[in-house]
Amino acid sequence: MTTILVTGANRGIGLEFVRQYAEEASVIACCREPAEAKDLNALARSKNVRVMTLDVGDASSAASLARALKGEAVDILINNAGVFGPEKQSAAHSDYNGFAQTFRINSIGPLIVSQALHDNLLAGRDKKLVTITSKMGSISDSSGGSLAYRASKAAVNMIMHVLAHDWAGDGILVAILNPGWVKTDMGGPGAMISPEVSVRGLRQRIAELNEKTSGRFLDYLGKEIAW
Ligand SMILES: NC(=O)c1ccc[n+]([C@@H]2O[C@H](COP(=O)([O-])OP(=O)(O)OC[C@H]3O[C@@H](n4cnc5c(N)ncnc54)[C@H](OP(=O)(O)O)[C@@H]3O)[C@@H](O)[C@H]2O)c1
Repeated sequence: MTTILVTGANRGIGLEFVRQYAEEASVIACCREPAEAKDLNALARSKNVRVMTLDVGDASSAASLARALKGEAVDILINNAGVFGPEKQSAAHSDYNGFAQTFRINSIGPLIVSQALHDNLLAGRDKKLVTITSKMGSISDSSGGSLAYRASKAAVNMIMHVLAHDWAGDGILVAILNPGWVKTDMGGPGAMISPEVSVRGLRQRIAELNEKTSGRFLDYLGKEIAW
């Protein structure tokens, strides 16, 4: 059975990934506070879902997870966890600590997790490394505002693009995917699509990921996004 690991799995897009993949795969669902993750724990009671602790911005948390998973294969690793960042992130006012924390979680976090679980990915059949980024990280398509969020997503795009090159020799394929504007705590109630629709599209993109699409910036419908 395919094993899929999802970060930020307790709500939003991450929880929907777990819900959908649990129908066909074994899922390792990671979140900061498993004891608080009511919906996820309910899923884990009826499906093949293991809930594990992971703060993606904390290298020691990722190392603990890697120790717990030593020797296990992860076929698909999904870096989904993310934050929108501080209230003040405009050209006029910036909360620099909040800015750095946004980078820690959105940009460095996926690198921390990918490196910590590199051996698990190598042991997997699919060897697919997926990062949920945002169209707001596109420099050529950028309007103003949301500086920390936009910059952190542009940075993770570059990090994942580099990993697509540097780990290609290991057979690892890298997906850099925009989920669309999704009705979650982050996207808000006025967003365009449900988590269910977004994740259905994202799963399709992950299923068809190959050497040609590895390292490219695509949306959940498969449309290429300009860097
Ligand atoms: N919703 C949209 O319209 C949209 C659009 C473009 C891109 N995205 C991206 O899609 C991904 C998922 O977003 P979402 O809409 O599902 O957001 P969400 O509903 O706000 O959920 C964010 C998830 O990330 C987790 N998280 C935050 N910081 C973490 C950390 N340090 N360690 C581990 N988990 C952490 C949260 O856990 P806690 O409950 O512990 O905080 C939560 O599970 C993000 O990367 C986001 O940037 C979303």
